[in-house]
Formats: sequence, structure tokens, C-alpha cells
Amino acid sequence: MAEKVYIGDIADHAGKEVAVTGWLYNKRSSGKLWFLQVRDGTGLIQAVVFKGSVSEVLFQRCEEITQESSITVVGTVAEDKRSAGGFELQVTDLQVDQVAQDYPITPKEHGTTFLMDHRHLWLRSSRQHAILRIRHEIVGACRDFFDGRGFTLVDAPVFTPNACEGTSTLFETEYFGSKAYLTQSGQLYMEAGAMAFGKAYCFGPTFRAEKSKTRRHLTEFWMIEPEVAYMDLNGDMELAEDFISYIVKRVLDNRRPELEKLERNTEALAKVVKPFPRLSYDDAAAILKEKEVEFEYGSDFGGADETVISEAFDKPVMVHRYPAAIKAFYMKNDPDDPSKALCVDVLAPEGYGEIIGGGQREDDLSVLEAKIKEHELPAEAFEWYLDLRRYGTVPHAGFGMGIERAVSWICGLSHVRETIPFPRLMHRLTP
Ligand code: 4AD
Ligand code: MG
Repeated sequence: MAEKVYIGDIADHAGKEVAVTGWLYNKRSSGKLWFLQVRDGTGLIQAVVFKGSVSEVLFQRCEEITQESSITVVGTVAEDKRSAGGFELQVTDLQVDQVAQDYPITPKEHGTTFLMDHRHLWLRSSRQHAILRIRHEIVGACRDFFDGRGFTLVDAPVFTPNACEGTSTLFETEYFGSKAYLTQSGQLYMEAGAMAFGKAYCFGPTFRAEKSKTRRHLTEFWMIEPEVAYMDLNGDMELAEDFISYIVKRVLDNRRPELEKLERNTEALAKVVKPFPRLSYDDAAAILKEKEVEFEYGSDFGGADETVISEAFDKPVMVHRYPAAIKAFYMKNDPDDPSKALCVDVLAPEGYGEIIGGGQREDDLSVLEAKIKEHELPAEAFEWYLDLRRYGTVPHAGFGMGIERAVSWICGLSHVRETIPFPRLMHRLTP
């Protein structure tokens, strides 16, 4: 029996007879030959079937197999400079494990709704492989970055009694006779983590009942959230630029073929090195004014505004000190101008807009109590959080980066829906 190998490792088996198990990606024939494109998840290889060197039955089998049929191919690994992987298989035997029914996704063009309805199958396509492998690389890089800097992973719960990011986007669920929310952010728990471990981070799914249908919004997305004790807004911005430079470099170092597959302009990514430009909210508002964008000073930047601001730079830009009135209750006001919050949004270049939101937290018990009241949040649910200010409060800061927004930018995609295996959008819960 020939040794079973993965296509990704095929170069190690040149000249040998091996077995590859996988699926038929595509096929074509030219009389005496069948060219089978076989994929096994680790790669794609061309299997060549010569009419002269296999049985009549086996050659006939090639005629019958359909796209995505599961097959076991036995053959000799031969170098082939013209093929993408550098090798082809010269087939000696072929077993059909299942003849697939008519596969809905054919090499022709399909509309996005159709592809999204078949997301469970669409994941088999090479473009989706490239995106999800880059996502995997980014997730690994995020963890390595914080692990390498002495942060402790403190996972935050998904069920929570707290509205962290305002009450308008909460998913509410019944919880044994009382109510709970799906978490919008792990931040409040990371503040507890930072007081316990000094440097903490969490990485998990977060939820927002976003009624907006934009290319940047999911209802379920993954967020990585570091939080550090004795750190101020400046330190937070330094951490954010180190972090983003690190993950972009990791993708450039390790995922070149995938970026190529997506036709990503890698020169633009190579410019993502620190320091990043820093702008105050007022500076950013001035850019909008100069570019004659209709914008009401004091309000939050919308997606289109962020696009205009970020297009003015070829690196991510850090916009700090937004009006406190439009920001979350937990933000610390700037002592030099209490109408502003000590917060930062990092806007990705090439028009991508916000990928990170964070800042310095209010560390004074009575100010925080007043803010909870002002935002009409239920005081009882925040009692545990106020304990963090009662028992050894210190200045602290952190941020959250949405993984899908980062993947969308780094891959150069036009919508976040392809950056997560099974996207959840306002009008999509299936598959
Ligand atoms: O700016 P946001 O709302 O900040 C927070 O949640 C803070 N509590 C984080 C922290 O300081 N620990 O969200 C942070 C990031 C955004 O910059 C964006 O990348 C992403 O989360 N995000 C979304 N991604 C996809 N779909 C949505 N609906 C998103 N909402 C936020
Ligand atoms: Mg934000």
C-alpha cells in the first residue's frame, strides 16, 4: 500500500508512489489524458491519468467523477515546473469514495447572496482558504504578541448583566427567570484582570445588535482586548502601534502566497511601521472641514468620515480625545479639557476606518458612580465593577481590536462578511 501523504508535504516524496485523499476540484481531458485537480485542504495538485498506463475501468472512472467527489488517488510524485506547487501525480490507481451530487458552486461567477447561502461549501474555494489562513495567522500573531509581553490570558464571560457599550445594541436573553445580555466587550472584566495580573487580555466572540447593514458591521465578531494597570493614554497608543505593526509584519512574513492570491497590494502593508500619526478629534474634524465633508462638530465620525480621514495617511492613524459626551461611561475625561475623553480610535489606511477603540479608564469612584447614573445604567449591575475603584484603584488603559475589521483591511477586502467562517449579520443566521 502506498504511503498516505498530504499535498502540502508532497515535495518530501518526489519520485515515490504515494496516496492522496481528497476531493476533485476540477478536471479536463484531452483524449488519451485526464487532468484531475485534487485538493485535500493543505494544497492543490494535478493528477495525470494516462490512458495507456491504467486499466480501461480506471480511465472510465475519470469520466464519471464529478466536482467535489471524494477520491483517493495513488500515483508517483513527479516534478513539474509549470504547476503551482511544482509537482504533479502520475496516477497508477484511483478510488472513488463518493460521487458527489451536482455541486452548486461551479467555476462560473455566482452572486454574493448565493455564495453566502452556501457558505458551508464556499469555504472549500481557494480564495476563502487564503482569507481564513490569513485570519488564522492574525489570531496567532495577536496571542503571541501579548504572550511575549507578559500578559496573562483572562477569558471574559459571554453572558453578562452589564451593558459595556451602551444599551442600544444589546442582545438580551432570558436567564433562569432574570435577564442576561450577550457581551458587547470583555473590557470591564479585563479591568478586573489588570488589577489582578497587571497586564491581562481576553480574546473571544462579542455581540452587537447592530441594525446597520454596512461593510464593517457584524452582529457577532471576535475581539482581542488588552488592559494594563498603571498605563495612561500615551502608553495605550504606543501599545496599539507596536501591536498593529507586529501583526502586519507577521502576515507579510508568513502569508505571501495568500496575499498574492487575493491580489493584495503588499507595498501598502509594508508601510505599516511605527510611529503612526496621532491626531486629536479636533485635528480630524479640521480635515473633514478642509475636504468639505458635511460634518457636525461634536458628533461621532461615521464610516464615510473615517474613510476620508484615514485616506489622508498611508499608515494607520490614531485619533484621540473625542468629545466625552458621545463616548462610553467608563472613559476618563481629559484633565486639561474635561469636555474631551482620554480615548483613542485607530483608523486603518486605504479608507478602511476604525479597527481599534480604547483609552484610559475613569479611575475615581465618585466620578464613575456619577457617570453610571448619568448614562442611566442600572447601578446594581455595576457594583462589582465599582469594587475595582474601592480596593486599590490605579490609572489604567486598554483597547479592543475587532479581528474581522483587521482581517478585512490586511486582506484588502470590500466587506467583513468574508473574514469570518460563518458570518452573522442582521439578515443572516444561516448556515
Ligand atoms: O470601539 P468599540 O466599541 O470598543 C469597545 O468595545 C471597548 N470596550 C474595547 C476596549 O477598550 N477593550 O469596539 C472595539 C472594536 C472596534 O474598533 C471594531 O474593530 C470592532 O471592535 N467592532 C466591530 N467589528 C465588527 N462588527 C461590529 N459590529 C463591531 N463593533 C465594533
Ligand atoms: Mg469604537
